[in-house]
Amino acid sequence: MSDKNVTYFSENTWYQKKVLTLDTYTYCRMCIESELKGCHSLLDIGNGGFFNYEISSLDRVVILDVCIDEGAKYGDNVIPIRGNALDFDIEEKFDVIVLQMLIHHVTGHSPEESVKNLEAILTSCARHLTPSGRILIVESTVPGWFHFLEKIAFRLLHRIWNFPHPLTFQHSARQLLRSAVKVGLSIDEYTLIPMGKWVVIFGLLVPSALTPVQPVKLLLSNPPAI
Ligand SMILES: C[S@@+](CC[C@H](N)C(=O)[O-])C[C@H]1O[C@@H](n2cnc3c(N)ncnc32)[C@H](O)[C@@H]1O
Repeated sequence: MSDKNVTYFSENTWYQKKVLTLDTYTYCRMCIESELKGCHSLLDIGNGGFFNYEISSLDRVVILDVCIDEGAKYGDNVIPIRGNALDFDIEEKFDVIVLQMLIHHVTGHSPEESVKNLEAILTSCARHLTPSGRILIVESTVPGWFHFLEKIAFRLLHRIWNFPHPLTFQHSARQLLRSAVKVGLSIDEYTLIPMGKWVVIFGLLVPSALTPVQPVKLLLSNPPAI
């Protein structure tokens, strides 16, 4: 699925404009900025090559994405790394690791593989945290009844999907929490993020009232060493 993410997101100024202007993403921005106070080093995975939140107070920001241009200038404190969330190893630990609207893009060949991939990402993130560091997930989720139908649809669609936007797989909030606990992370916060009038789904502007999606904020950390 990563190849399609590269072609779709490399030049996607439409998506960037929507994220910078729609209320739903303004609420996401507020969730991120409130966690960056006192943060020195940040890793943003699936950053997309742009920021919808303020980074001027941070000493160091590493952005990792399959479609990042490593030669481009994203800011004096920004280091771009072209890499895969599933398989990254940076010799550095971070105060905050942000995963904003990334997880539903890292799918697999099946719903089960998508869950395994989610857990692989969380495990890698946990290894890259400072002792007091936190993983901040801002992610779109779906309710259980929709998730049941989505799993059936995903199995059928992933073989034949032929749209420019990659096929995504949204987890339920319950699954995100379950996977975090399974890989040994502590849940410090779980909050529903309010939605504005519109959301972007499969690269289309959709009225929020017509979709089952619910963005959530999750804050995770490594349990203290005994
Ligand atoms: C929906 S965009 C989110 C961009 C930005 N985080 C935001 O919230 O506005 C998803 C991003 O995840 C990136 N992505 C998808 N699969 C990835 C992977 N396996 N590893 C790293 N980045 C990935 C895409 O290239 C894209 O930039």
